[in-house]
Amino acid sequence: METIVRVDLGERGYDIRIGADFASLLQVKGAGRSALILADSNTGPLYRDAVSRILAKCGHVCSYLEIPAGESSKCLEQLGRVLEHAVGAGLDRKSVLVALGGGVVGDLGGFAAAVYLRGISFLQVPTSLLAMVDSAVGGKTGINLPQGKNLVGAFYQPVAVTVNLQTLQTLPEREYRSGLAEVVKYGIIHDAAFFDLLEREQAALLRRDPSVLGQIVARCCEIKAEIVSRDEREGGLRAILNYGHTFGHAIEAVCGYGTYLHGEAISLGMVYANHVSGMCYGFSAVASRRVRDLLAGFGLPVQFERCEEWGRLRAVMSSDKKADRQVPMFVLVEDMGTVHFGCEVPEDVLQAAYAHVCEGERK
Ligand code: GLY
Repeated sequence: METIVRVDLGERGYDIRIGADFASLLQVKGAGRSALILADSNTGPLYRDAVSRILAKCGHVCSYLEIPAGESSKCLEQLGRVLEHAVGAGLDRKSVLVALGGGVVGDLGGFAAAVYLRGISFLQVPTSLLAMVDSAVGGKTGINLPQGKNLVGAFYQPVAVTVNLQTLQTLPEREYRSGLAEVVKYGIIHDAAFFDLLEREQAALLRRDPSVLGQIVARCCEIKAEIVSRDEREGGLRAILNYGHTFGHAIEAVCGYGTYLHGEAISLGMVYANHVSGMCYGFSAVASRRVRDLLAGFGLPVQFERCEEWGRLRAVMSSDKKADRQVPMFVLVEDMGTVHFGCEVPEDVLQAAYAHVCEGERK
């Protein structure tokens, strides 16, 4: 059975179709005549044929480009490859780029689609949990520069998002668990009942039960769609999606991209933000403990091992994209499902929270 979630953005609105195969690609209206399928070296070999067959049924002439798997492909060089391939394959303004893969393929492909011929259609076909619940929805596209993550990009909405839940069954365990961190985030920032559900369904999620996954992915997409519909370009509310990301992004940068997967760094970032929230908004120790236990139950890190890194982490937080005149801005939680964004935090609190996340337990 297919679930449809609408991202309500007027003429830029689109459906997220969640099912157990790629068939919903057949439903996409307004996609172009020729299609470029962009995939990476992990997902391409698995799904390229199935997706090409469906696109061919829709009358598309398909070409295919594969990038190396991994965050390092979100770069200018690979962007150039995609754009040059598009020219070589004769893509015109009525063509469509199909981003088949995880967050790297979606971000790079979406940005290439945004700038090629000043913008062609693109479809998000996310194959990782993290991409399904977060990066493929909402139109953030872009690449990294050597100086930092996502420094070049555009808000550019896809014409549709096709989620094939079956692809989660082949996802490497570590990557799957990394995606669960972003799932937990939605409970904390928006929906306390959803957090309860995640606690109840922990075992089913760990064994990748298809029906539970369908329900969970759909709810995450609904929450993200609602937030993006209200604040497409992150003028305010959308910032709550960055819960745990100020500290998490700093960990990724200081420890080297890939040392911690994105979701692993965000898990630590959420534990850190919970400590700050306890000190600034009275977020209860009991609730903080529940978050920590759920993350740990999903096999995600909840204690930061590199206790000597405060100076470097603090510096990176000041240069974060979301910092305001070098002052890092935080999303903080008052109660499960109730958050505040754009919060400035006193220096001693930042440092105390770091001590807590290194000790592992909230005192
Ligand atoms: N991943 C955060 C956002 O889409 O705004």
